[in-house]
Amino acid sequence: MKIDIFTLFPEWFGWFSEQRHITNLRASGSRIDCVNFREHTPLSAGQVDDMPFGGGAGMVLRVDVLDSALRARYGIDPVELRAGRRVIALAPGGRLLDDSLVDELAREEELTLLCGRYEGFDERIIEHFASDVVSIGRYVLSGGELAAMVLCDAVMRKLPGALGDERSAEEESFSAALEGNPEYPHYTRPAEYRGWPVPEVLLSGHHAKIESWRREQSRERAERLNQESAGR
Ligand SMILES: C[S@@+](CC[C@H](N)C(=O)[O-])C[C@H]1O[C@@H](n2cnc3c(N)ncnc32)[C@H](O)[C@@H]1O
Repeated sequence: MKIDIFTLFPEWFGWFSEQRHITNLRASGSRIDCVNFREHTPLSAGQVDDMPFGGGAGMVLRVDVLDSALRARYGIDPVELRAGRRVIALAPGGRLLDDSLVDELAREEELTLLCGRYEGFDERIIEHFASDVVSIGRYVLSGGELAAMVLCDAVMRKLPGALGDERSAEEESFSAALEGNPEYPHYTRPAEYRGWPVPEVLLSGHHAKIESWRREQSRERAERLNQESAGR
């Protein structure tokens, strides 16, 4: 998979790109490339933002700057770009990133991520250049960089070769294998610690019973989660 990240802070991704699952993928041809859109601004003194029409606090990222950066990277009008690849603007109010969206994105060969800053994007960037608007949660970060990393991490760990044991990514919280429920609890040695025993069924060696206990735990966790959300 090849991911291009448009950001004003490409240095944020240096650490991320060196993490084991990402280096595993890079060794087999995957890439994360950063484009600092300040380097493509048609404006003087590296300007990328401007005051909002209508007034209000903060600065807004300019549509002509993103137009120029996307055009420089892909050599076509960015309006046409999204017909051929997912161009994802990160924004708190976008579609929530969940396991099914992660699966959907993991099937793409190439992705483009747009990281906002300040008050965010001029809406015309979203309307005319983006194919998707994605949020990592209903809270506001200072910029799209951490959101981009969360998305990349969740997507890339699903790709073959990322993890030491590929089965690790199959039966996980919210996956289809667990009917969209949270994962069941795990335990390891010691079998008892400070009087806290591991559930006996896990030591029984009875695979069918273990499987059924895990499914049940997973369903109970989903119910608790639903009750907590409903109680808010
Ligand atoms: C300070 S935020 C702008 C918030 C915007 N004024 C609002 O109220 O929705 C700056 C940038 O951070 C990114 N960002 C912040 N929170 C995010 C979230 N929860 N999910 C995805 N991106 C986020 C977006 O790219 C956004 O343009």
